[in-house]
Amino acid sequence: MDIQQDKTPLMLSIGGGKGGVGKSMVSSNIAVQYAKEGLKVVLIDLDIGAANLHTIFGIRQPPKGLGEYFTTAKSQLEDYLLDTSVENLQLIPGSGFVPELANMRHFQKVKIINQMKTIDADLILLDLGAGSSMNIVDFFSMTNAGVIVTTPEPTAIINSYEFLKNVTFRILFRILKNEPKLLRIVKESAVPRKDKSAPTIEETLACLEKENSFFSENIRDVLNDLDFYMIFNQARKPSDAELFKKLNEICKRYLGLDLNVSGLIYYNDEVPSSVLKMTPISLSSPDSITTKMLRNHALTIMNSVADKYHKGIVVPFEQQYERALSWAHNDFVDNLLTQKRISKEVEKSNKAYTSKYNERVPSF
Ligand SMILES: Nc1ncnc2c1ncn2[C@@H]1O[C@H](COP(=O)(O)OP(=O)(O)O)[C@@H](O)[C@H]1O
Ligand SMILES: [Mg+2]
Repeated sequence: MDIQQDKTPLMLSIGGGKGGVGKSMVSSNIAVQYAKEGLKVVLIDLDIGAANLHTIFGIRQPPKGLGEYFTTAKSQLEDYLLDTSVENLQLIPGSGFVPELANMRHFQKVKIINQMKTIDADLILLDLGAGSSMNIVDFFSMTNAGVIVTTPEPTAIINSYEFLKNVTFRILFRILKNEPKLLRIVKESAVPRKDKSAPTIEETLACLEKENSFFSENIRDVLNDLDFYMIFNQARKPSDAELFKKLNEICKRYLGLDLNVSGLIYYNDEVPSSVLKMTPISLSSPDSITTKMLRNHALTIMNSVADKYHKGIVVPFEQQYERALSWAHNDFVDNLLTQKRISKEVEKSNKAYTSKYNERVPSF
């Protein structure tokens, strides 16, 4: 799979408001799936205070993690990479509570993200913690695309919506930070009115347009381009997929977002067993339906992200929804994967040819 437009790795974050829904389960397993497809993957445990990805990969006590990175002057992220048992997959472990992180400034986050971009990898996955704290929201909004994990429980769905709202408004606030009038309009639209109703995105955009039509169009484009994927984990029945439609309707109406759907993952007792074995389920039960669903979602997401990343094409929600529900094999992804392998082979033979050629060229 050739997903790199240039040498910068593609960055995906995995978030969602609620704890315990399965963010780490999803991020660890999709990381394994991408690595198995030949992508060079780095998984970063950004769940500060409750880091546990290393445990999922059977590493009891990582030698060092993000805690040390954040508290050591001039440290380089690359020095914190840890090999896992999976070829092509490295981990940057998280850490316990790091007081400095609570007040992390925006430029510090930008610095970390910029360091992540220099890591030699095709794909970087960020496993984020629960909640909608500024750090989590900022890291999420700084990546190319985001995967929201929720369960079908109303509490988890509400938390996911709140998370999406926080991410969306945070992005808008930053865009409009030097436009006080417009910023005020957007800030006002983020809170319910006196009659408890919430302004729709169209109402907000109409107010913005009256002030400045250039910005309002720009904001519409930004919202359109936000690339969010939903996974409903621990589902109990196929009809849980219907919740996507409801959540997406609300996101469209109030946030102007058109969510992409990846699909369901059913509740399966093998998942907690895999945690006890300290191995991702993709490795401990490679043939289980959960592994197949995780693989399907991983490929669907990467197919879409790689597609948009390269061509700027936005796939409509309906199409994504159909695609997520079908179990059909995805030729497009396969082609991309094959291309990657081929390009690696070509690169190898080119290198061999160049070195042979260089041997024959006399030096002056
Ligand atoms: N599809 C699933 N079926 C059964 N149990 C699951 C499933 N997904 C996650 N779990 C369990 O839920 C718990 C929380 O998962 P985790 O990935 O740590 O959540 P988060 O990172 O969102 O806090 C774990 O004990 C895990 O075994
Ligand atoms: Mg977690």
